[in-house]
Amino acid sequence: MGNLKAIMYSGSFKEYTTFLAILKTKYPGAMTLTDFGALHTVLTGLGEDDVAAVFIDHRLLDRITPNLPYYDQENILWIVLAQESTALLHVGPQVFDVLTCGGAINIQRFLKRLKKDVACRLRLQALESEVREFYTIGKTLSAEKDTKALLETIINACIDITSADGGTIYLVVNGPDDKWSTFREGDAGSKLLKFVIARNRSINIDMEELTLPISRESLSGYAVITGLSIRIDDAYDIPVQVGCSFNPQFDKITGYRTRSVLTAPMKDHQDRVLGVIQLINKKRRDRVVPFEPRDEMVINSLAGQAAVALENSLLYRDMEELLEQYRIQNERLRELSERILKAHEEERRRIARDIHDGPAQLMSSCALKVEIFRKYLQRSMYDALGKAMDELNDSILTMARDIRKIIYDLRPSPLEAGLLKALETHFAVFSKETGIKVKFLHTGEDGGLQYYLIATLYRVITEACTNIRKHAGATSVEVNLEIGPEKVSLLVVDDGKGFDPDSVRKKTAEDKLQSGFGLEGMRERVELVQGALHIDSSPGKGARVKIVLPVVQGPSEGEDVGA
Ligand SMILES: Nc1ncnc2c1ncn2[C@@H]1O[C@H](COP(=O)(O)OP(=O)(O)O)[C@@H](O)[C@H]1O
Ligand SMILES: [Mg+2]
Repeated sequence: MGNLKAIMYSGSFKEYTTFLAILKTKYPGAMTLTDFGALHTVLTGLGEDDVAAVFIDHRLLDRITPNLPYYDQENILWIVLAQESTALLHVGPQVFDVLTCGGAINIQRFLKRLKKDVACRLRLQALESEVREFYTIGKTLSAEKDTKALLETIINACIDITSADGGTIYLVVNGPDDKWSTFREGDAGSKLLKFVIARNRSINIDMEELTLPISRESLSGYAVITGLSIRIDDAYDIPVQVGCSFNPQFDKITGYRTRSVLTAPMKDHQDRVLGVIQLINKKRRDRVVPFEPRDEMVINSLAGQAAVALENSLLYRDMEELLEQYRIQNERLRELSERILKAHEEERRRIARDIHDGPAQLMSSCALKVEIFRKYLQRSMYDALGKAMDELNDSILTMARDIRKIIYDLRPSPLEAGLLKALETHFAVFSKETGIKVKFLHTGEDGGLQYYLIATLYRVITEACTNIRKHAGATSVEVNLEIGPEKVSLLVVDDGKGFDPDSVRKKTAEDKLQSGFGLEGMRERVELVQGALHIDSSPGKGARVKIVLPVVQGPSEGEDVGA
């Protein structure tokens, strides 16, 4: 707290002997000044915490009044000294009070009251500067978007404002890998506290991220569960009735000695606890002292501000991550649609080529053959005509076969019947053609699956079947398909000769065109829809192809999306 400087300013002190005597006993350092310049020097040299009480002889009031506005400061009290005989005084608003120096009792009473007033004023000044500091911290907190920097600001502000030696922040999380959560009544047991930041002025801390259960027996857990702050004078001597104990692990590792502790919950405006601020070892002149009730009050409100700022910054970070995920997803979709477009184009080119190379060419040659018939007829070359007609017949049959093949390729996708139906048909044909038994087990409905998932599953399964037919030498295959609300799992197991998946070479683009799209293509397809593919096989052990695809929940049909 600041000091009171008592100053008496008068041309002569003769009339004020009683007052001066009392003033000097109350304030031994009281100054007597006769010169305005000297007074000015003293007043402008006041420290931030000082308060000056200036007693002015009423005869000097007129001389000083024009100057008073320049000293319009909270920490200067102008007190006019009057005598019983003094005529009416014109006292301006800058004057704090008038003291009539009639008798000793009056003077003593006045000075006693003044002391109280000054104490109040000093207290107010201290509070004002605290409020200012608080305001600055609040502004900094709400402006900081970066969570890590925000945590730093919070812990540093708490340490500074309470003169603590060190501090730690823990956040409430749902699990060790979670980033943040909030705690409400009844959440104990399901949530954890995660250490996120520590500062210490005396030692360097390099602690790893660690999580603790939230229990009422620990100081931090107590703050989370009860939502109350707690002040401990000696961490190693906590009164039994508090019902908490101090975790000495940190002291043990670092050799530090924790004594006074102040723990406060970071509670947002909805009373949800985001975490805990724990301050240790309040210091005064290099000695550790207990935290004071004022520290507790200040930290509680700071923790509240910190909670709101932190919540904002964490939400902001979550949102950014979400946006990033959307961006990636979008990019994937773009890739996917590009591939689909390309595939369509390739398909059209292939059909055009098939028609050009097959039926179209045959047609031209048929027309030529008809020309030749005419010549044979004109020359009555019946043998040659018969042969040419046989050839024409062959050509027409070939043409009919080619056209049927093209039509077959153009028929609607087997998937139009639904994934399960299409697979059943596929397996039936596969078994009939290869003699390999297929056991098809499935759970869940295929109706709600998105088409890109259905197409991926179908292509992966048919490709796996192609490989089994071509390479495995298997006698039976088991296919297990589980369609769930969040994911689809597929397992294709054969009892064939197996192979070493690591040594299978990557196919060149040329190879891919020759055969199916291969194991690499399967993986690519699966990863494109954010799924995972795993192949488990070794020579002599058969092969297991496992894939898991996430199901993205979209609005279901009939749901009012616009509302
Ligand atoms: N089910 C299987 N059983 C045995 N070997 C397999 C099986 N699936 C794949 N392979 C082996 O992996 C190789 C790569 O397969 P893939 O990428 O589909 O190319 P391709 O089938 O054109 O050879 C095959 O050549 C084969 O040696
Ligand atoms: Mg293959």
